[in-house]
Amino acid sequence: MTLHSKTPAGLDGVIAAATALSHVDGERGELVIAGHRLGELAQSASFEAVTARLWSLAKGEEIGPERVKVDLGIARERAFETLPRLLAASEGLPVVSGFRAAVAALGPVEGLPDEAAIVGAMPVIAAALARRAAGLSPVAPDPSLGHAADTLRMLRGEAPAEAEAKALDAYLVTVCDHGMNASTFAARVVASTNADLFMAVTAGYCALTGPLHGGAPEPVLAMLDAIGSRENIAGWIDAALSRGERLMGFGHRIYRVRDPRADVLRKAVGLLGGRGVDLGFAAEVEAYGRDALAKAKPDRPLDTNVEFYTAILLDALRIPRAAFTPVFATGRAAGWTAHAREQQRTGRLLRPASLYTGVVPG
Ligand code: ACO
Repeated sequence: MTLHSKTPAGLDGVIAAATALSHVDGERGELVIAGHRLGELAQSASFEAVTARLWSLAKGEEIGPERVKVDLGIARERAFETLPRLLAASEGLPVVSGFRAAVAALGPVEGLPDEAAIVGAMPVIAAALARRAAGLSPVAPDPSLGHAADTLRMLRGEAPAEAEAKALDAYLVTVCDHGMNASTFAARVVASTNADLFMAVTAGYCALTGPLHGGAPEPVLAMLDAIGSRENIAGWIDAALSRGERLMGFGHRIYRVRDPRADVLRKAVGLLGGRGVDLGFAAEVEAYGRDALAKAKPDRPLDTNVEFYTAILLDALRIPRAAFTPVFATGRAAGWTAHAREQQRTGRLLRPASLYTGVVPG
């Protein structure tokens, strides 16, 4: 008997928790966050507003968007004041690993809920690490700005255009929560032991970094660079698939149709006036990749996922590639913290069983 025959190796279809935070309908290609469809939310709600809804649901108390905006501003300032300590263990590490070390160094901030201390600190750390890698000094936050606008400002050292801040805001809303994805599951497991939110979020980030999850956008851009031109699309993709490689930014465990987040992000890129990867070229890669995957894996619809247009959007926003996964984490941390609270309110330790396939001693 193989492990697979009794229990899915990837826990496919296993319900690991009940949640009121978000729902992924893989057949219909729909994502509901805090009771609203993503399409509506990304057009009408700020990251602060969606985060307020998630935290309200998770904690069972009403938290308003203005409160979240103020708390995140304070948290960005506090993180900046302690930056030398936060970054101490990240010296010499690449940005993605340095971010892990700095997130692990976070702790409670007096007067702030832990979730705000965490979500507020994340863009400060991401921007400081990205700038350090480029030989630049960190830029202090401006708590009067929205979280997305200040994130871009701290990354670049200058205020972004309104359209750019809106595009990053739509991105943070789009990725803030997504059902029982691997990083959220990791965060919930840690929170279920009654470890604090800092522990849970560090675990969530570690799970996010792999290329099968939130580590894919950098490889997506590397793939688009390697393809290079329209004439090369077919040859490059056919060769990659014949070598048994996975196309980065394609496929999803739950979605059987196109990831709805891809559309929202594609629209957001369109508002940036043609900067970065040509959208016509990207659409051709998408269409050819989808058809080639349909031939290679006829039993499994494989379409573009969130990471394909994440890569293109973050590149168009002039965010350095090395910071893509940390910037993803700054959005997803809203979901991780809400799930950690929701899990703790169940009072139940997550402790599944395993199927023993080893030797039974005589
Ligand atoms: N390119 C080529 N083949 C693929 C791809 C792909 N992108 N995705 C899946 N497949 C293949 C698998 O190898 C498998 O083939 P097999 O049956 O011959 O072994 C078959 O399609 C079915 O795979 P699934 O079971 O549907 O895939 P799974 O649910 O395990 O994986 C995942 C989902 C990890 C996202 C996968 O599609 C993948 O590796 N994609 C590329 C990386 C990527 O884009 N990651 C970002 C995901 S989005 C996010 O987490 C935020």
